[in-house]
Amino acid sequence: MAGYVDLGLGSLFARSPAYETVSWENALRDLESRLGRVAGILEEPALKEVEENTRRLLEEIRGVDPFSLRWAADSLLARCCYVVCRLLEPDVVVETGVAYGVSSAFVLTALEENGGGVLHSVDLPPLRRRYEWFWGIAVDEALRGRWNLYRGSSARVLPGLLEELETVNLFVHDSLHTYRNMLREFGAVWPRLRAGGVILADDVERNGAFGELRRKDPALWRVVWDREEQPLHGRAAPVTFGLVVK
Ligand SMILES: C[S@@+](CC[C@H](N)C(=O)[O-])C[C@H]1O[C@@H](n2cnc3c(N)ncnc32)[C@H](O)[C@@H]1O
Repeated sequence: MAGYVDLGLGSLFARSPAYETVSWENALRDLESRLGRVAGILEEPALKEVEENTRRLLEEIRGVDPFSLRWAADSLLARCCYVVCRLLEPDVVVETGVAYGVSSAFVLTALEENGGGVLHSVDLPPLRRRYEWFWGIAVDEALRGRWNLYRGSSARVLPGLLEELETVNLFVHDSLHTYRNMLREFGAVWPRLRAGGVILADDVERNGAFGELRRKDPALWRVVWDREEQPLHGRAAPVTFGLVVK
Protein backbone atom coordinates (compact mmCIF):
# COMPACT_ATOMS: atom_id res chain seq x y z
CA MET A 1 0.00 0.00 0.00
CA ALA A 2 2.80 2.39 0.97
CA GLY A 3 4.38 1.77 -2.44
CA TYR A 4 1.15 2.59 -4.29
CA VAL A 5 0.74 5.80 -2.26
CA ASP A 6 4.33 6.72 -3.03
CA LEU A 7 3.75 6.06 -6.73
CA GLY A 8 0.57 8.15 -6.72
CA LEU A 9 2.26 11.08 -5.01
CA GLY A 10 5.22 10.72 -7.35
CA SER A 11 3.01 10.91 -10.43
CA LEU A 12 1.44 14.10 -9.05
CA PHE A 13 4.56 15.89 -7.84
CA ALA A 14 7.74 14.33 -9.27
CA ARG A 15 9.43 16.30 -12.01
CA SER A 16 11.56 14.48 -14.59
CA PRO A 17 15.14 15.68 -14.36
CA ALA A 18 16.94 16.83 -17.50
CA TYR A 19 20.02 14.63 -17.25
CA GLU A 20 22.76 14.72 -19.82
CA THR A 21 22.94 11.19 -21.30
CA VAL A 22 25.50 8.98 -23.03
CA SER A 23 25.01 6.17 -25.56
CA TRP A 24 25.57 2.51 -24.66
CA GLU A 25 28.82 2.52 -26.67
CA ASN A 26 30.14 5.53 -24.79
CA ALA A 27 29.04 4.09 -21.45
CA LEU A 28 31.04 0.94 -22.24
CA ARG A 29 34.04 3.08 -23.11
CA ASP A 30 33.72 4.95 -19.80
CA LEU A 31 33.38 1.69 -17.91
CA GLU A 32 36.43 0.32 -19.70
CA SER A 33 38.52 3.33 -18.64
CA ARG A 34 37.64 2.66 -14.97
CA LEU A 35 37.25 -1.10 -14.67
CA GLY A 36 39.08 -2.84 -17.51
CA ARG A 37 38.57 -4.32 -20.96
CA VAL A 38 34.96 -4.92 -21.97
CA ALA A 39 35.11 -6.16 -25.58
CA GLY A 40 35.91 -9.83 -24.91
CA ILE A 41 33.23 -10.03 -22.19
CA LEU A 42 30.45 -9.05 -24.60
CA GLU A 43 31.40 -12.03 -26.78
CA GLU A 44 31.34 -14.62 -23.98
CA PRO A 45 29.24 -17.72 -24.73
CA ALA A 46 27.71 -17.57 -21.21
CA LEU A 47 26.32 -14.10 -21.95
CA LYS A 48 24.90 -15.22 -25.27
CA GLU A 49 23.34 -18.27 -23.62
CA VAL A 50 21.64 -16.33 -20.81
CA GLU A 51 20.31 -13.85 -23.38
CA GLU A 52 18.90 -16.60 -25.58
CA ASN A 53 17.39 -18.49 -22.64
CA THR A 54 15.78 -15.30 -21.30
CA ARG A 55 14.39 -14.36 -24.71
CA ARG A 56 12.92 -17.84 -25.14
CA LEU A 57 11.41 -17.84 -21.63
CA LEU A 58 9.82 -14.40 -21.94
CA GLU A 59 8.29 -15.43 -25.26
CA GLU A 60 6.91 -18.63 -23.71
CA ILE A 61 5.27 -16.89 -20.74
CA ARG A 62 3.88 -14.00 -22.76
CA GLY A 63 0.11 -13.94 -22.29
CA VAL A 64 -0.02 -16.23 -19.26
CA ASP A 65 2.05 -14.41 -16.66
CA PRO A 66 0.49 -12.29 -13.90
CA PHE A 67 3.17 -9.55 -13.90
CA SER A 68 4.00 -7.32 -16.82
CA LEU A 69 6.76 -8.19 -19.26
CA ARG A 70 7.67 -4.51 -19.16
CA TRP A 71 9.08 -5.26 -15.72
CA ALA A 72 11.83 -7.45 -17.08
CA ALA A 73 15.18 -5.66 -17.27
CA ASP A 74 15.89 -4.42 -20.78
CA SER A 75 18.69 -6.03 -22.79
CA LEU A 76 21.23 -3.23 -22.19
CA LEU A 77 20.79 -3.06 -18.41
CA ALA A 78 20.87 -6.86 -18.22
CA ARG A 79 24.06 -6.93 -20.29
CA CYS A 80 25.55 -4.18 -18.16
CA CYS A 81 24.86 -6.28 -15.02
CA TYR A 82 26.80 -9.14 -16.62
CA VAL A 83 29.70 -6.97 -17.83
CA VAL A 84 30.13 -5.15 -14.50
CA CYS A 85 30.07 -8.44 -12.59
CA ARG A 86 32.73 -9.90 -14.84
CA LEU A 87 34.92 -6.80 -14.50
CA LEU A 88 34.52 -6.32 -10.75
CA GLU A 89 34.51 -10.00 -9.75
CA PRO A 90 32.36 -9.04 -6.77
CA ASP A 91 32.04 -11.03 -3.57
CA VAL A 92 28.77 -9.35 -2.70
CA VAL A 93 26.05 -8.14 -5.06
CA VAL A 94 22.78 -6.72 -3.74
CA GLU A 95 19.77 -5.97 -5.91
CA THR A 96 16.26 -4.69 -5.25
CA GLY A 97 13.44 -5.70 -7.59
CA VAL A 98 13.28 -9.27 -8.88
CA ALA A 99 9.94 -10.05 -10.57
CA TYR A 100 10.97 -12.65 -13.22
CA GLY A 101 14.60 -12.42 -12.18
CA VAL A 102 16.08 -11.31 -15.50
CA SER A 103 18.71 -9.03 -13.95
CA SER A 104 19.31 -11.71 -11.30
CA ALA A 105 19.94 -14.33 -14.00
CA PHE A 106 22.52 -12.12 -15.75
CA VAL A 107 24.31 -11.35 -12.46
CA LEU A 108 24.30 -15.00 -11.38
CA THR A 109 25.57 -16.18 -14.77
CA ALA A 110 28.50 -13.76 -14.48
CA LEU A 111 29.23 -14.87 -10.89
CA GLU A 112 29.27 -18.46 -12.09
CA GLU A 113 31.77 -17.50 -14.80
CA ASN A 114 33.86 -15.73 -12.14
CA GLY A 115 33.68 -18.80 -9.90
CA GLY A 116 32.76 -16.74 -6.82
CA GLY A 117 30.37 -14.24 -5.27
CA VAL A 118 26.83 -14.18 -3.92
CA LEU A 119 23.75 -12.27 -5.05
CA HIS A 120 21.30 -11.02 -2.41
CA SER A 121 18.00 -9.98 -4.00
CA VAL A 122 15.24 -8.10 -2.18
CA ASP A 123 11.75 -8.06 -3.68
CA LEU A 124 8.24 -7.27 -2.59
CA PRO A 125 6.36 -9.33 -5.16
CA PRO A 126 3.11 -7.94 -6.54
CA LEU A 127 -0.19 -9.11 -5.09
CA ARG A 128 -1.08 -11.28 -8.05
CA ARG A 129 -2.38 -14.81 -8.36
CA ARG A 130 0.35 -17.43 -8.98
CA TYR A 131 3.11 -14.87 -8.43
CA GLU A 132 5.26 -17.52 -6.79
CA TRP A 133 5.41 -19.55 -9.98
CA PHE A 134 6.76 -16.59 -11.96
CA TRP A 135 8.90 -15.08 -9.18
CA GLY A 136 12.53 -15.43 -10.28
CA ILE A 137 11.51 -17.81 -13.08
CA ALA A 138 14.39 -16.61 -15.30
CA VAL A 139 16.99 -17.94 -12.85
CA ASP A 140 18.11 -21.44 -13.78
CA GLU A 141 18.14 -24.04 -10.96
CA ALA A 142 21.88 -24.54 -11.48
CA LEU A 143 22.56 -20.87 -10.57
CA ARG A 144 20.53 -20.76 -7.36
CA GLY A 145 23.36 -21.89 -5.08
CA ARG A 146 24.77 -18.35 -5.17
CA TRP A 147 21.38 -16.67 -4.68
CA ASN A 148 19.66 -15.42 -1.54
CA LEU A 149 16.17 -14.10 -2.19
CA TYR A 150 14.43 -12.00 0.48
CA ARG A 151 10.71 -11.26 0.36
CA GLY A 152 9.75 -7.80 1.59
CA SER A 153 10.04 -4.13 0.78
CA SER A 154 13.52 -2.72 0.42
CA ALA A 155 12.66 -0.18 3.12
CA ARG A 156 12.22 -3.03 5.59
CA VAL A 157 14.76 -5.58 4.40
CA LEU A 158 17.71 -3.57 3.08
CA PRO A 159 18.98 -1.88 6.30
CA GLY A 160 19.35 -5.15 8.24
CA LEU A 161 20.75 -7.01 5.25
CA LEU A 162 23.39 -4.35 4.60
CA GLU A 163 24.40 -4.31 8.23
CA GLU A 164 24.91 -8.06 8.09
CA LEU A 165 26.87 -7.93 4.81
CA GLU A 166 28.98 -4.94 5.95
CA THR A 167 30.22 -4.11 2.42
CA VAL A 168 28.86 -4.40 -1.10
CA ASN A 169 30.71 -4.42 -4.45
CA LEU A 170 27.71 -3.95 -6.74
CA PHE A 171 24.20 -2.65 -6.08
CA VAL A 172 21.41 -2.94 -8.66
CA HIS A 173 18.24 -0.90 -8.10
CA ASP A 174 15.16 -2.09 -10.02
CA SER A 175 12.36 -2.01 -7.44
CA LEU A 176 9.98 0.89 -6.82
CA HIS A 177 11.13 3.85 -8.93
CA THR A 178 9.89 6.66 -6.72
CA TYR A 179 12.08 9.50 -5.49
CA ARG A 180 11.58 8.50 -1.87
CA ASN A 181 12.35 4.84 -2.38
CA MET A 182 15.32 5.34 -4.69
CA LEU A 183 16.83 7.97 -2.40
CA ARG A 184 16.36 5.68 0.60
CA GLU A 185 17.99 2.72 -1.17
CA PHE A 186 20.94 4.78 -2.47
CA GLY A 187 21.37 6.38 0.95
CA ALA A 188 21.46 2.98 2.67
CA VAL A 189 23.89 1.43 0.16
CA TRP A 190 26.35 4.26 -0.43
CA PRO A 191 28.24 4.03 2.90
CA ARG A 192 28.51 0.23 2.44
CA LEU A 193 29.68 0.38 -1.18
CA ARG A 194 33.39 -0.27 -1.49
CA ALA A 195 35.60 2.28 -3.25
CA GLY A 196 35.51 1.29 -6.92
CA GLY A 197 32.15 -0.41 -6.35
CA VAL A 198 29.26 0.14 -8.77
CA ILE A 199 25.58 1.14 -8.62
CA LEU A 200 23.31 0.34 -11.57
CA ALA A 201 19.80 1.79 -11.45
CA ASP A 202 16.94 1.35 -13.88
CA ASP A 203 14.55 4.12 -14.96
CA VAL A 204 16.53 6.94 -13.36
CA GLU A 205 14.77 9.52 -15.55
CA ARG A 206 11.58 9.25 -13.49
CA ASN A 207 12.73 11.50 -10.65
CA GLY A 208 15.79 13.31 -9.32
CA ALA A 209 17.04 10.66 -6.85
CA PHE A 210 19.86 9.44 -9.11
CA GLY A 211 21.07 13.03 -9.49
CA GLU A 212 21.63 13.17 -5.71
CA LEU A 213 24.32 10.49 -6.09
CA ARG A 214 26.35 12.88 -8.21
CA ARG A 215 26.73 15.18 -5.20
CA LYS A 216 28.68 12.42 -3.46
CA ASP A 217 31.46 13.01 -5.95
CA PRO A 218 31.71 9.50 -7.45
CA ALA A 219 34.52 8.46 -9.80
CA LEU A 220 31.98 8.02 -12.62
CA TRP A 221 28.31 9.08 -12.93
CA ARG A 222 26.47 8.41 -16.16
CA VAL A 223 22.91 8.24 -17.41
CA VAL A 224 22.74 5.83 -20.34
CA TRP A 225 20.11 6.47 -23.00
CA ASP A 226 19.94 4.30 -26.10
CA ARG A 227 17.77 2.02 -28.20
CA GLU A 228 18.01 -1.73 -27.78
CA GLU A 229 18.94 -3.52 -30.96
CA GLN A 230 18.09 -7.00 -29.73
CA PRO A 231 15.44 -6.65 -27.01
CA LEU A 232 14.78 -9.56 -24.68
CA HIS A 233 11.07 -9.28 -25.46
CA GLY A 234 8.75 -7.20 -27.61
CA ARG A 235 9.86 -4.44 -29.91
CA ALA A 236 13.09 -2.44 -29.65
CA ALA A 237 12.47 0.42 -27.25
CA PRO A 238 14.38 3.37 -25.80
CA VAL A 239 16.27 2.46 -22.67
CA THR A 240 17.45 4.64 -19.78
CA PHE A 241 19.49 3.56 -16.78
CA GLY A 242 22.10 5.00 -14.46
CA LEU A 243 25.65 3.91 -13.76
CA VAL A 244 27.89 5.03 -10.91
CA VAL A 245 31.41 4.00 -9.93
CA LYS A 246 32.30 5.06 -6.40
C1 LIG B 1 10.82 -3.80 -12.57
S1 LIG B 1 10.46 -5.20 -11.60
C2 LIG B 1 12.04 -5.96 -11.43
C3 LIG B 1 12.52 -6.61 -12.69
C4 LIG B 1 13.75 -7.46 -12.52
N1 LIG B 1 14.89 -6.67 -12.10
C5 LIG B 1 14.06 -8.20 -13.82
O1 LIG B 1 15.06 -7.85 -14.45
O2 LIG B 1 13.31 -9.11 -14.19
C6 LIG B 1 10.18 -4.48 -10.04
C7 LIG B 1 9.98 -5.44 -8.89
O3 LIG B 1 10.11 -4.71 -7.67
C8 LIG B 1 9.07 -5.10 -6.78
N2 LIG B 1 8.86 -4.01 -5.83
C9 LIG B 1 7.96 -3.00 -5.87
N3 LIG B 1 8.09 -2.22 -4.79
C10 LIG B 1 9.11 -2.71 -4.07
C11 LIG B 1 9.73 -2.34 -2.84
N4 LIG B 1 9.32 -1.27 -2.16
N5 LIG B 1 10.76 -3.09 -2.39
C12 LIG B 1 11.20 -4.18 -3.06
N6 LIG B 1 10.63 -4.59 -4.22
C13 LIG B 1 9.61 -3.87 -4.72
C14 LIG B 1 7.91 -5.36 -7.73
O4 LIG B 1 6.89 -6.11 -7.13
C15 LIG B 1 8.62 -6.10 -8.86
O5 LIG B 1 8.74 -7.46 -8.55
